[in-house]
Amino acid sequence: MTAFYLTTPIYYVNDRPHLGHAYSTIVADAMARYRRVAGDDVWLLTGTDEHGDKIAQAAAKAGITPQAMADQNSAAFRATWQALGISYNDYIRTTEERHKKVVQAILQALWDAGEIYLGTYGGNYCFGCERFYTEKEIVDGKCPDHLTPLTWIEEQNYFFKMSKYQGWLIDHIERHPDFVRPERYRNEVLGFLRDPLTDLSISRPRRRLEWGIPLPFDDQYVTYVWFDALINYVSALGGPGDPRFEKFWPHAQHVIGKDIVKPHAIYWPCMLKAAGISLYQHLNVHGYWTLGGHKISKSVGNLVEALAFKEKYGNDAFRYFVLREMVFGLDADFSEEAFVGRLNADLANDLGNLVSRATTLIVNLGGGKVPQGGSVTPAEEAVAEAFAKVKADVAAAMDEFAFHRALASIWEFVGVVNRYVDTSQPWALAKDAAKKDRLDAALTTLAESLRVLGIMLVPFLPDAAEKIRTALGQSGEPRLADAVWGRFAAGAPVQRLSGLFPRIDDKKTSASPAGPVETAATPRIKIDEFGKVELRVAEVIAAEPLPKSKKLLKLMVSLGQEQRTVVAGIAEHYAPADIVGKKVVIVANLEAAKLMGVESNGMVLAASIGGKLAVLTLDRDLPPGAKVT
Ligand code: MSP
Repeated sequence: MTAFYLTTPIYYVNDRPHLGHAYSTIVADAMARYRRVAGDDVWLLTGTDEHGDKIAQAAAKAGITPQAMADQNSAAFRATWQALGISYNDYIRTTEERHKKVVQAILQALWDAGEIYLGTYGGNYCFGCERFYTEKEIVDGKCPDHLTPLTWIEEQNYFFKMSKYQGWLIDHIERHPDFVRPERYRNEVLGFLRDPLTDLSISRPRRRLEWGIPLPFDDQYVTYVWFDALINYVSALGGPGDPRFEKFWPHAQHVIGKDIVKPHAIYWPCMLKAAGISLYQHLNVHGYWTLGGHKISKSVGNLVEALAFKEKYGNDAFRYFVLREMVFGLDADFSEEAFVGRLNADLANDLGNLVSRATTLIVNLGGGKVPQGGSVTPAEEAVAEAFAKVKADVAAAMDEFAFHRALASIWEFVGVVNRYVDTSQPWALAKDAAKKDRLDAALTTLAESLRVLGIMLVPFLPDAAEKIRTALGQSGEPRLADAVWGRFAAGAPVQRLSGLFPRIDDKKTSASPAGPVETAATPRIKIDEFGKVELRVAEVIAAEPLPKSKKLLKLMVSLGQEQRTVVAGIAEHYAPADIVGKKVVIVANLEAAKLMGVESNGMVLAASIGGKLAVLTLDRDLPPGAKVT
């Protein structure tokens, strides 16, 4: 059994849990559940970050002690994770003794080893961020994040000799290309490391801030909150020497949002190195949620409302939406319209209908039992092969935290099985006794498809997956090893399961920030006017971002006989890896145009509304170059 240790950020207790926090936690939970069904020994950690100025100030404002504020909000996070069904193994609070003990032991060891010294520091400080800003980072004399004036502070503080690790860290990142991933964040970190790395101030004088862990070698100071917080990943395992630490730490991976890359990719590895602790394996960085296309401000009320959708539409639908909608690593937009769109299309229509149709057919035509096989024809083989491919694709996607890709693959399979129902037409086969063998083959294929879906969906839709398994009488622990074709015993009972995801009447949902669908009429055209446009199927062979553009991807596409470069404005919606291999539709006879210095020979067709965009693809395979009419 391989050990697997995954952590979420620990959340500040001056805030209420909101969509952003929930996303990080759901991502980690989905990965933990995937690894559990894959047979790993998993430890999932989450918790709260409770010290520092930010909390002390919020508590003072609320007229309560920092500890009372921490107790209240830490409990609120915990309750939210319980309501969301997060399967964490441990919940750490940085005010706990077990944490303080390890922080102080590490500080003492670094002090004894000469890794920490007392120095003077003057700088522009932001109380909101709890950090000093360099001249380069300041925007109009203000904090670039909060846009509030900074305070000049000069004081004696303890410093960790981080600068001496710069060369070593660059080397480590270069030798381990997926230490920080996706790649854009690795590049960002290497970018930071092109400037000289300074030593890190790791203390705050007690006369200014009481709310922190006292330095073990000078009680006039408390520990800087980031130095304290990062250590939670180690302290929660009991620290070096603890059997749990020894078992899980070598397999550690972190999940974080893009706002906290610097402390995790720079401070933390240097701290670990200095303390003689091995580094974590991967830092998995996701993008930011926006609402209705707008960048989220520091006021988070609307993000809290977005999280409330879990009550309105259910945990599974909420998880599905956030995991499917966000390309891991990129930003994504949250709107009720997009949410209901996916719920109706993917969950109610594709999956819900399939489960209902298949179980109903087995109950009505097969007497509620998995029949005795039936002979396998290429049609049945194709379904089994599609599943084997999907299982491998999901494994590859999950290795890279590409949840959106894993789900897209599973839904490809759902599509294959839905089409198999349409073409095999079990209801027609049932009318002809001579076709009993074909009927048995069809019902067995449907039962088998649902059985493997009941396992593959566990990480993403835990409740629905369990309902599917229950309807099929599968009571044991789900294991990926059983998601193999042909394991369903003939004669096993099947119950009807309908209404897994009821359709939402999308006219009833409140007006979303995306606004109504645009239906403004454009003048009608004659068929020969349309005929001037040459539309063709093109296979995307390679894709890369254009360095200076946030919106554009440079695609190399094949039209069968020829290959060309097409520049498409889809970079905010598709990562290069998501578009490569897709068959898209392009306007092939468009005059060449230069976009950001690159010549584009054609235009990719895409639909968009309210900040969402989807590239047109084929729902059946055709060779590149095929004409679209
Ligand atoms: N306490 C620190 C983390 C210390 S980890 C050793 C902290 N806490 S936080 O409460 O501000 O949470 C930040 C994290 O919440 C982000 O890294 C991200 O995981 C998540 N998100 C907060 N807002 C977000 C969005 N709008 N979108 C996506 N996730 C974001 O920083």
